[in-house]
Amino acid sequence: MYAIDHEDLGTPASRASESVTVRIDGLPVTVPAGTSIMRAAALAGSRIPKLCATDTLKAFGSCRLCLVEIEGRKGYPASCTTQVADGMSVHTRTEKLSALRRGVMELYVSDHPLDCDGCPADTHCELQDMAAVVGVRDTPYAPGGVVHADATRDVSNPYFAFDPSLCIACSRCVRACDETQSTLALTMEGRGFDSRIVASQDEPFLTSECVSCGACVEACPTAALSEKSLAAAGQPDRTVTTTCGYCGVGCSLNAEVKGEAVVRMVPDRKGGANAGHACIKGRFAYGYTTHADRVTTPMIRRKITDPWLPVTWEVAIAHAAREFKRLQATYGRDSIGGITSSRCSNEETFLVQKLVRAGFGNNNVDTCARVCHSPTGYGLKHTLGESAGTQTFTSVMKCDVIMLIGANVTEGHPVFGSQMKRRMREGARLIVVDPRAIDVVRTPHVTASHHLQLKPGTNVAVMNAIAHVVVTEGLAKEDFALARCEPESWHRWKVFVSRPDNSPEALEGVTGVPAGELRAAARLYAGAPNAAIYYGLGVTEHSQGTSMVMAIANLAMATGNFGREGVGVNPLRGQNNVQGSCDMGSFPHEFSGYRHCSDATVRGLFESHWRVTLPTEPGLRIPNMFEAALDGSFKGMYVQGEDLAQSDPNTQHVTAALSALECLVVQDLFINETAKYAHVFLPGSSFLEKDGTFTNAERRISPVRKVLNPPAGLQDWEITQMLANALGYPMNYSHPREIMAEIAELTPTFTGVSYEKLDRLGSLQWPCNDRAPEGTPTMHVREFVRGKGRFYVTEYVPTDERTTSRYPLILTTGRVLTQYNVGAQTRRTANVAWHDEDRLEIHPSDAEARGIADGDWVGVASRAGETVLRATVTARVHPGVVYTTFHFPESGANVITTDNSDWATNCPEYKVTAVEVVKVDQPSEWQRRFHEDDRRQRRLTPSADVDRV
Ligand code: SF4
Ligand code: SF4
Ligand code: SF4
Ligand code: FES
Repeated sequence: MYAIDHEDLGTPASRASESVTVRIDGLPVTVPAGTSIMRAAALAGSRIPKLCATDTLKAFGSCRLCLVEIEGRKGYPASCTTQVADGMSVHTRTEKLSALRRGVMELYVSDHPLDCDGCPADTHCELQDMAAVVGVRDTPYAPGGVVHADATRDVSNPYFAFDPSLCIACSRCVRACDETQSTLALTMEGRGFDSRIVASQDEPFLTSECVSCGACVEACPTAALSEKSLAAAGQPDRTVTTTCGYCGVGCSLNAEVKGEAVVRMVPDRKGGANAGHACIKGRFAYGYTTHADRVTTPMIRRKITDPWLPVTWEVAIAHAAREFKRLQATYGRDSIGGITSSRCSNEETFLVQKLVRAGFGNNNVDTCARVCHSPTGYGLKHTLGESAGTQTFTSVMKCDVIMLIGANVTEGHPVFGSQMKRRMREGARLIVVDPRAIDVVRTPHVTASHHLQLKPGTNVAVMNAIAHVVVTEGLAKEDFALARCEPESWHRWKVFVSRPDNSPEALEGVTGVPAGELRAAARLYAGAPNAAIYYGLGVTEHSQGTSMVMAIANLAMATGNFGREGVGVNPLRGQNNVQGSCDMGSFPHEFSGYRHCSDATVRGLFESHWRVTLPTEPGLRIPNMFEAALDGSFKGMYVQGEDLAQSDPNTQHVTAALSALECLVVQDLFINETAKYAHVFLPGSSFLEKDGTFTNAERRISPVRKVLNPPAGLQDWEITQMLANALGYPMNYSHPREIMAEIAELTPTFTGVSYEKLDRLGSLQWPCNDRAPEGTPTMHVREFVRGKGRFYVTEYVPTDERTTSRYPLILTTGRVLTQYNVGAQTRRTANVAWHDEDRLEIHPSDAEARGIADGDWVGVASRAGETVLRATVTARVHPGVVYTTFHFPESGANVITTDNSDWATNCPEYKVTAVEVVKVDQPSEWQRRFHEDDRRQRRLTPSADVDRV
């Protein structure tokens, strides 16, 4: 139940191009053909009373409140389900209509009396409003009739409650779950008075198929479905539009606030990426921002075994700067570095890399995108000329065939996942390339045409085989390739993929994908008018991650799938600002806009702007920093918003490197796993407590606006600025808009970006410059950014990580809807009701061979380490493959992942680890040490209310 949006025109807009003119209460109005009378009347300024209609859902016509009279027609049709016709004359306000509407409303009120005091929807209830509009205060029906007042409430969902006694059976929730979310978890059971809303097979919401997106709650016109937060806190007093801080979809959200507390999040209907939808994380899981674990004071300590000492900002910053200066004086300029985060804003990220290059005087800056999408940057830059996806999310609605590779779209990118399912229900076909049967492979409502269930680590072989079919069966778009791409590279690539050893039959034994299935999928993709590839970390986190990205670009170029809506190559970014952190120059060899630090012209631009001499050689990548720490040449690190000790592979190697540092400065919300090795802790600000921008997977730059004050007093950019000044490199920004102005001045793809324009347009997709002042929704339209596209030969090279008799299974990793990345945020919300531990999925045959039953504790050992998890026995994984998530530090998923990495970018090979699984009855040695260390560090951390020195 939400405040009536006065722009709600009752039914969705018609997309027809022809117009018709009608008269509504005597006034002429011209609207597209197919428009409902209700919408046409609203456009003419006449609001027809309604309950079951809303302009985000198709008209249903159940409440009968919206009746109208049409000249020359008998009866009183529902205006929401009746379309206008040229010359039609409609009356919306007659005495007869008023009487009819009153009668309808009296019936509603007989079962849902208007005793609204104390109801969370009071003053924001459409039933209450409509009763007033039609002039009903009470029901004439005698008390004591059969009503639903005693119906049992369902409060199982932590975030919202369902009160059947307030339900008016309008079906808006059912339609929202169907049309907006595409989950179809709700049905209307029974008829007439016995109608009732049922989740799944009449289950509590918590355990039903419901994924807690909240779309039904938003659609409900009464308090039948309502947020618990609203009941607890009351109505908000202000609204701030900002951008979700979780995944790379980048949903725009209206934070409704009362005093200094968020009451609820409402997805913004004008949001370019989400158009009014959100998932459980964005809509509900913001409670971590006020969790008791938040550190709200800066802290320092000499050794990591010492208790933390709370200090003032001045003392903490001076201490960090003194230590960094000491290390550089003792061990050299290159002995320190900094890490930016894909969870932080563009402005914060830009400032950290500036601090490193201009303040530290080296290029030792890297980002957590190193461990997820660095192959995307490299692969797409080399083939197409730009390190980013090519389309908007809505482009999928023009797609005929979707190829989804290594991306669990409904879990990792839920709002886009819903949109994709909508498109599938309209008829688009889906090809899934994934070792696991992810949700979209088969649901009751959408089914993939092909699931190429490959063996982990054989992506490139599969893609070469698809390309082989396309080329050898004459399905390639030769004209496009010759006109838009380098002919020599095209011919070389064609010869390569045509080789018999790249045929599906030759590679079947390697990939595990039946040749016939692969051929059919290749034909489907190549034969589609519009085919698009969407991919995730299942593509990049491999030793051949970059080769696979190039292979994807090759295939799309060979089939002419670039430069218009419904096509393209679309990396789905995991975290909110993966795209932005890469754009902002976080890699050790690149300035913002992906320009190499050895380019004297580019460097000169930054040098004159920043008034320093900048280093010419690339700095250290994260893995090189760890190696250098272990060999004693790298001694200090500034880490903003990133948890290396949990998210990077081979945890024991990482923690050994962090332990070797003399000064580790961590800026974060919580004492995360990395902070346990820190000497200075600087309390950061959450996405609700800062101004800035995030850039999503569509290159969409969206505003992040301060909703609340940061509990420790400073926004993250202010902390970096203080540190720079203490190091002797002056920074004097007064607001992030000035940082964005500098980014725009120094970055060709951002020259047209400003806060003023973002405020005006809501968001902007880069490139945004003189050639595209309002941004670029679709890239590579007439030519590729690099001019001619370039095909690369992508020879399949098996990973060194092989199964053996000692390690006979392949472990691959992924994520779940309710948790996010390392879980630091979502573990501190009620989302743990759905997922409170990482489990190991194992195929029934592998489980049986090892005597493992569902729920058993199992030891998972690799060449790097060993951990213990509980088993889920499931056929979602193939025999020979096991799978887990990495949201809980104690699971130690990265204790077992190895140091193998992508040949071009060092992106870790998280997706392929040879392991053995055995039944056990106690935690691993690493887990015992982890829990001891965790308890010790908690004892060393003061509680929130402490005096600073
Ligand atoms: S919360 Fe979302 S998934 Fe759950 S019933 Fe409502 S609309 Fe459907
Ligand atoms: S729960 Fe709300 S939206 Fe669903 S049928 Fe009842 S009143 Fe309508
Ligand atoms: S987590 Fe992603 S899909 Fe969910 S609301 Fe946030 S940005 Fe949108
Ligand atoms: S609003 Fe038209 S029938 Fe309900």
